[in-house]
Amino acid sequence: MKRRIWLTGASSGIGLALAEELLKAGHKLALTARTLAPLEALERRFPHQVLLAPGDVNNSEQVSAIGERIAQIWGALDTAIFNAGICEYIDAKNFDSNMLERVVQTNLIATSYCIQEALILLRQGERPHLVGVASSVAFLPLTRSEAYGCSKAALRYLLQSLRIDVADEGIDVTIISPGFVDTPLTAKNDFPMPMRWSAEKAARYIFKRLEKRRRPLEIAFPTAFILALKLLALLPERAQLTIGKRLARTSSHVEGAK
Ligand SMILES: NC(=O)c1ccc[n+]([C@@H]2O[C@H](COP(=O)([O-])OP(=O)(O)OC[C@H]3O[C@@H](n4cnc5c(N)ncnc54)[C@H](OP(=O)(O)O)[C@@H]3O)[C@@H](O)[C@H]2O)c1
Repeated sequence: MKRRIWLTGASSGIGLALAEELLKAGHKLALTARTLAPLEALERRFPHQVLLAPGDVNNSEQVSAIGERIAQIWGALDTAIFNAGICEYIDAKNFDSNMLERVVQTNLIATSYCIQEALILLRQGERPHLVGVASSVAFLPLTRSEAYGCSKAALRYLLQSLRIDVADEGIDVTIISPGFVDTPLTAKNDFPMPMRWSAEKAARYIFKRLEKRRRPLEIAFPTAFILALKLLALLPERAQLTIGKRLARTSSHVEGAK
């Protein structure tokens, strides 16, 4: 069945590659991001499937306007995929609470604006499905991830809790937890990124699982990377601290070598 899907963060990286997969499969897509050009390029290629819904997800009024636009044109949503996000790394020596606020605002609070709009529309949709892109960082505290990690761990909790509360309305909730994916977001990383995937590979992996009749609760990849993080998270806190400190040293060596 062709679905009416709202996708945020559709202008680059995982979102852009996933938009491509979903459009090729014939779905209708409402595309949100601040950068208009890539959304318009998709609209030119898939004119009857794309609904342009640009905006800043940090602006709750713009998010409401997007919800209203989707309501006017489609009347409902079958799937909402909240993928828009940013990543910045904390320097503990110059701890910047404004940066933490920025990251939590975009990754958590702005996603909640989108959820508020989407739930109204999903209740009118077919086999409704709400999908949030969290991160594998939520499985294990990692160096310099105070801001990004806490935003994604909180998003994960929000989605897990919401899953319980909307289950009786027939709304499924899936959490996507990528490992490292080659995108503009990770291009600025100055440390080793093991088992990194291309955005296209990540999008194909996500797409296949979103299309399954029985919705997965979690789409986490690459499997070996996720398993490693989950196993490390089972270690006693002190052992995790020792490993974390070693990783922090490796990452500062890489920085120092630049
Ligand atoms: N790449 C990875 O290794 C990785 C790993 C785990 C999780 N993730 C998560 O995957 C998601 C996609 O990331 P990516 O790696 O594909 O990064 P990306 O290429 O930088 O894409 C981020 C997307 O979010 C949009 N966005 C950011 N702030 C926004 C705002 N205020 N309003 C509207 N749109 C906004 C950007 O669009 P505009 O700038 O045009 O607005 C862009 O389309 C993020 O949630 C990220 O945290 C990525």
